Amino acid sequence: MNENMQKYACYLDQVEAELMRCTSELKLGSEQTVVDAMRYSLLSGGKRVRPILTLAVANALGSPTDQNLLRLASAIEMIHAYSLIHDDLPAMDNDDLRRGKPTNHIVYGDGMAVLAGDGLLNLAYEELFDLCKLQPALNKACLNIAREAGVRGMIGGQSMDITKFESDDQDVSLQYLIKLQKLKTGGLIKAATLSGYYYAEAMQKANKFNSQLEELFVVYADRLGLAFQIRDDLLDIISSKDKLGKSIGKDARDKKLTFVSLLGVAESKKYEKKLYDEVISILDKLEKLNVNINFLSYFTSVLMHRDY
Ligand code: IPE
Ligand code: IPE
Ligand code: MG
Ligand code: MG
Ligand code: MG
Repeated sequence: MNENMQKYACYLDQVEAELMRCTSELKLGSEQTVVDAMRYSLLSGGKRVRPILTLAVANALGSPTDQNLLRLASAIEMIHAYSLIHDDLPAMDNDDLRRGKPTNHIVYGDGMAVLAGDGLLNLAYEELFDLCKLQPALNKACLNIAREAGVRGMIGGQSMDITKFESDDQDVSLQYLIKLQKLKTGGLIKAATLSGYYYAEAMQKANKFNSQLEELFVVYADRLGLAFQIRDDLLDIISSKDKLGKSIGKDARDKKLTFVSLLGVAESKKYEKKLYDEVISILDKLEKLNVNINFLSYFTSVLMHRDY
């Protein structure tokens, strides 16, 4: 195992332990079923892309991982887990398989799945409010998470996703799709990336944290978020149920507007490669500004070449 692989394994362990801690403190009586449903989806694996991005960006900027950073990162994963539970509901994508297991509503029923998602969202904000009380300078990071998870981010994108959109003009469709995907998936990727940035800024209060550096991370997250969703769309066609842990071919079944449906597999791959090249050029710029991009470069490459 090389150094970056070890780091990835270490980040995963830290995030899993923190997610376990957050939910194990919920000891309830007759409300236990909703907690079981929350834990079912939160603790069922997943790549943990968003919290790892938060940790990796903060570390790259010279802020070591501590409990507050882990709490910030894990809150974003809780929001992500809630978004997946709701995304799988019959009223949205109607999926029955997630991470190789039956989806939340298949196990707990639609009503309980709605509540499990709501429970995770509220638990995330409970963690974030508590963090702000301990470290008021983290307010900027927390506010940004709320914004990117909401109608100007993930929820806005999901709303565009479930709205039927048809146009004969490919350019018009592409513009709609880019906006949709940048919001629905890019929102939380941006929240995760900038949380790492804002965390380091709040802890170090150094003048290296300026709008130029921040903007590079904004663009990094923007391109990565879009590329991440294009890969998700591609995998829906080119991967397998066993590898992906999700059903295959759902987007076509549901006539979803995706990069693959609009441009086809080959053009989608080209588009993805173009975005990846842009991400690499941003990382080069960050390196020139003395950001330690070692793990970030490795992790970005893992995400862009993933088959699950
Ligand atoms: C799936 O996200 C939904 C998208 C936003 C593309 P991930 O691919 O990060 O899913 P997990 O958390 O690893 O299962
Ligand atoms: C989901 O996108 C994005 C979210 C914000 C949850 P998809 O609907 O394509 O994600 P999968 O394929 O079900 O994981
Ligand atoms: Mg969806
Ligand atoms: Mg879905
Ligand atoms: Mg998908």
